[in-house]
Amino acid sequence: MVGFRLDGLTKSFGGARAVDGLSLEVADGAFLALLGPSGCGKTTVLRLLAGLERPDGGTITIGDRVVAGPGTFVEPEDRGLGMVFQSYALWPHMSVAGNVSFALHGKGLSAAEIATRTGEALALVGLGDRAAARPHQLSGGQRQRVALARSLALRPKLLLLDEPLANLDPALRTGLAAEFRRLHAETRTTFVFVTHDQAEALALATTIAVLDGGRLQQCAAPEELWRRPASPAVARFIGDGRLLPVDVIRRASGGVEVALGAARLLMPGDAPAGPGWLCVRRQGLVLTDAGSPDGALAGSVRASRFEGGAYLHDVAVGDDIPVEVHGPVSLPPGAPVRLHVTDGWVIPRGP
Ligand SMILES: Nc1ncnc2c1ncn2[C@@H]1O[C@H](COP(=O)(O)OP(=O)(O)OP(=O)(O)O)[C@@H](O)[C@H]1O
Ligand SMILES: [Mg+2]
Repeated sequence: MVGFRLDGLTKSFGGARAVDGLSLEVADGAFLALLGPSGCGKTTVLRLLAGLERPDGGTITIGDRVVAGPGTFVEPEDRGLGMVFQSYALWPHMSVAGNVSFALHGKGLSAAEIATRTGEALALVGLGDRAAARPHQLSGGQRQRVALARSLALRPKLLLLDEPLANLDPALRTGLAAEFRRLHAETRTTFVFVTHDQAEALALATTIAVLDGGRLQQCAAPEELWRRPASPAVARFIGDGRLLPVDVIRRASGGVEVALGAARLLMPGDAPAGPGWLCVRRQGLVLTDAGSPDGALAGSVRASRFEGGAYLHDVAVGDDIPVEVHGPVSLPPGAPVRLHVTDGWVIPRGP
């Protein structure tokens, strides 16, 4: 297991920057999720790490070895990595064991060693009893696990996974996600897992790097990203956060004091006096009585639906900003409501 470091990594395609000055340090044995919307450069970062693309600038260090940088380029097969692509290809005419052992031939391993590693990798992914099956006899999730076993058999120091759970149904995704966590714990390999699904990233990773437009927005533990998003893009992307414009009045002990419409609130956050955003989620909003005193936000219900054992109301507050809040009963469209903000995070509002 090794960590890796990216310094000012840049890659353009036809003049458009897919990866833009990315710097990132990932510890040994981490489970890193690269998270971001479609086209933000996640796959390109993986391909650069794997050596399938050459950077235009910057360096990549794996362990203590520079594998790409000015005047240096280590070929993919010499980087000691495993990679599982979203569209994994298995050889249809080979058995499951044949697919897994294929890449082990030609590496100077004895037949016994190849058999041992193949058996171990299949056992790790829970397919020890399907070694003789052909890919077409397996389910989609089982095939994905064969692709994973094929990478694990190489005993990589770093395992790169590009949306390995996409295309699977929700039950399979949940099962395989649990398996990834177990495999990560058992193999102690550094995992880099690409996803555009923030729930998946929050559930799996020890560290999440959020990318937007080829740039790093924030790299932090899941709880930190959730509680203290560093930018509006992260706030919106994680946990479906909504941004309310506020005026930051002053820093105070325990947070910042903000004016939100007529309400004055003391909120956790990190912003100087001036324009700010208050990031709120449905978990930090509570419906309150219409006559309640200061500190409550006025809004009106746009729609209600029953979800997760309670009603989820779509409410417009302030300048028609949509937020969501749970409540015990259904409310008709247009109903006036007041909301208390019980939790949120304040960030500066840039120019
Ligand atoms: N080989 C290529 N040639 C030209 N443009 C490319 C190439 N590979 C990627 N790009 C462009 O680089 C940008 C980043 O692509 P990338 O595949 O890394 O995104 P992604 O975050 O993996 O997206 P998705 O979630 O849709 O897989 C996109 O604008 C894409 O069109
Ligand atoms: Mg991709």
